[in-house]
Amino acid sequence: MGNEFVTCSFLLLLFLTLDPGVSSNVLRLPSMDLVEQKEDDGHSSSHFHMETVSLANYDPTFTVMKVIQVGKTIPVSFPYIKDLSPYQFLPREKTHHIPFSSKAIPELHRYFPVFPGSKQATAIEQTLKFCERDPPAGEATACLTSFESLTDYARGIIGSDSDIRIVRSSLISSSTPTLQNYTIMESKEILTGKVIPCHAEPYPYAVYYCHFQVNTDNKLFMVSLRGENGDWVDAVFLCHMDSSPWSVESKALIRLGLKPGESEVCHFFPAYDLVVVPQ
Ligand SMILES: *[C@@H]1O[C@H](CO)[C@@H](O)[C@H](O)[C@H]1NC(C)=O
Repeated sequence: MGNEFVTCSFLLLLFLTLDPGVSSNVLRLPSMDLVEQKEDDGHSSSHFHMETVSLANYDPTFTVMKVIQVGKTIPVSFPYIKDLSPYQFLPREKTHHIPFSSKAIPELHRYFPVFPGSKQATAIEQTLKFCERDPPAGEATACLTSFESLTDYARGIIGSDSDIRIVRSSLISSSTPTLQNYTIMESKEILTGKVIPCHAEPYPYAVYYCHFQVNTDNKLFMVSLRGENGDWVDAVFLCHMDSSPWSVESKALIRLGLKPGESEVCHFFPAYDLVVVPQ
C-alpha cells in the first residue's frame, strides 16, 4: 500500500521564456495563462507552478468497514489543495508528442525548463522511474498522461463498450483542519464489479498511476462527512476486502494492528486521486 503514495512533495515553479521561435515546442498549461506577464524588454514570460503535491505529507486514514455507520464520528485526514486544475487530465493532443520516458530526460528539459538537480527535476525523474518499474504481481498498472489514455486503459479492463465514470472526493476548504473528527452523515455503496484506483504523481501536467488488482474484491463507497468545523466532504472510501496477500510490514496493517488477511482494510481518498468505475 505504502508505495502508492509517492514520496515527493514540492512546489514546482518553472520560469519559462516564451521565445516565438521555440514556443511551438512548449507545452502550454492552463495555469500558465493565469500568470503570464509582459516583461519590460517586450518578451513575454510565463511563470507557472505545479501545484504542491504533498503526497509524502499526507497520511491516508486507514480503517475497517464497520466504522462507517451513519451518526458515528471518526477522525479523518484530508490534505488541502486549492483547486483541481493541476490534476485535470490534458487532452491527448497536448501531451502525445511529449516523450514520457527517463531515456528522454534531456529532451524533456526543452519542454519543462528546470534546473538539472533541482527538486523539480528530481521529482520528474522519480515519477518516470516509478512509472517504468515492473508492476507488482497480480496488478495491471499504467501511468496515464491524458484523458484518452485513461479511457483506453479503463476500457481495456472494464470492457471496450462500457462507459466509465470517474469518482473523486470533494475538496476541503482552506479553513478545514487537515485532521479532524467527522460525523458520518450518509454512506452509499457504489455498485461495481471493477474498481480502478488512480493516484496523482508529481509532474508538470496531470499524470496518474492507475493500478487494477486482478482477482481482488474491492468495495467502493461515497461517504458524506460533516466536520466539527461545519465543512462537508463527500469522500471516496475504498475497502480492500482481502488483505491476505499483503506484507506484514504494510503501513496500513501496522497502523491498524492487523495481520494480513485478518480483516479488510479501507481508506479515504484525497481529492487529487481518483477512482474509475463502470458507468
Ligand atoms: C476526536 O474526538 C475524540 C473523542 O471526543 C477525541 O479524543 C479526539 O482527540 C478527537 N480528535 C481530533 C482529531 O479532534
